[in-house]
Amino acid sequence: MAKSLKTDVVVVGAGAAGLMCAAQAGYRGRSVLVLDHANKPGKKILMSGGGRCNFTNLVVEPRHYLSANPHFCKSALARYKPQDFIELVERHGVPYHEKTKGQLFCDNKASDILNLLLTECEWAGATVKVNCGIDSVKKTGEGFVLQTAEGEVQCASLVVATGGLSIPTLGATGWGFQIAEQFGHHCLPRWASLVPFTFSDRWQPVFAELSGLSVDVQVTCNGTRFHDPLLFTHRGLSGPAMLQISNYWQLGDALTLDFLPGQSVEALIKDWQQAGVKAELKNQLASLLPKRFVQQWLDHTGVNKPVHQLTVSDVESLADALHRFQVTPSGTEGYRTAEVTLGGIDTREVSSKTFESNKVQGLYFIGEVLDVTGWLGGYNFQWAWASGFCAGQFA
Ligand code: FDA
Repeated sequence: MAKSLKTDVVVVGAGAAGLMCAAQAGYRGRSVLVLDHANKPGKKILMSGGGRCNFTNLVVEPRHYLSANPHFCKSALARYKPQDFIELVERHGVPYHEKTKGQLFCDNKASDILNLLLTECEWAGATVKVNCGIDSVKKTGEGFVLQTAEGEVQCASLVVATGGLSIPTLGATGWGFQIAEQFGHHCLPRWASLVPFTFSDRWQPVFAELSGLSVDVQVTCNGTRFHDPLLFTHRGLSGPAMLQISNYWQLGDALTLDFLPGQSVEALIKDWQQAGVKAELKNQLASLLPKRFVQQWLDHTGVNKPVHQLTVSDVESLADALHRFQVTPSGTEGYRTAEVTLGGIDTREVSSKTFESNKVQGLYFIGEVLDVTGWLGGYNFQWAWASGFCAGQFA
């Protein structure tokens, strides 16, 4: 890179949103430079969806996102829909499939999505530069001057696409929040989210004992519920159900778990007793739930008798243990394993049409750095594509 370079647009962050925005701005004839301090672009894309990238969801609606300003995401989500990204994926010949609940994954590797984005950038004439940190940003009359690891860069538009704080080893930093604050923007508190829970109470060893086991649950917290698989781990509870509910959980909140969603243990036992079942409860329940789980759960709830000997109060205790099990996490695994950051740059100071700052002309914020957080299931990438696409029409 020349020691002093002029370009129309600098995008900081070669992740999902930044690469999408760079290609769009490039197609408009803008000269675009994408800068990233990491040694590779799109590291989170490569890691995502267990290496297969859950790149969008067939049904994406504003209700799938959390934000202090819930209306903000509506415009971009309406202007760039899952079908738009699916068409792009198909144009590039990337094979994909629906896994569950509308979640679309690559058949092969997440690198198919990254390669698609890098190809789009190349076709649009946008340059992507890695290993290039930014030391400072100053506003000038015409735009911005950046001091970077490779010299000075001047630009008319500066797009901040540095993502959230999760997984620092993949290049995550708080740079976007610092720049926002430098330019007078308000940032909302940030939390690790879509993240497993940890426990320090008497349940931790029980969960550890069941580590590796997955069961279908309905989990409820603060009035929100999800019906998805739960995974027991050495440290606590994980799996889609736990990651989903973590978006709605705060320290001190209890989770309520139903291990037999859609069924009634009271009705089942009544039926079994009327049919004269004399089997041990654990054997009978093993037809509905994994044997290892049933054994542990009955040991810890103290209800472990032959079915015909169960009393009304036994059945009540069992229903509490299986339908209304309450547990309070001591915390989460934090940014080390979280998929996203909840909170971020306050969207009330950013245009939902252009993604330009309402305070500083030429400054744009897109993707996860903003206070918009999606559910698990391709929603966070769809937000990155939609916000990147829209900002790319204006930056
Ligand atoms: P993103 O994090 O993609 O990009 C930010 C870029 O900015 C990075 O390249 C980073 O190196 C760079 N950067 C940061 N600080 C910088 C600095 N100071 N200077 C220069 N560059 C800097 N979502 C989904 O929808 N489906 C899925 O399957 C998954 N799976 C998944 C797995 C894992 C393990 C994680 C951690 C996350 C997911 N996600 C996901 C979430 C998804 O990856 C995330 O929401 C998007 O990547 C956000 O896109 P952004 O472009 O905003 O940030």
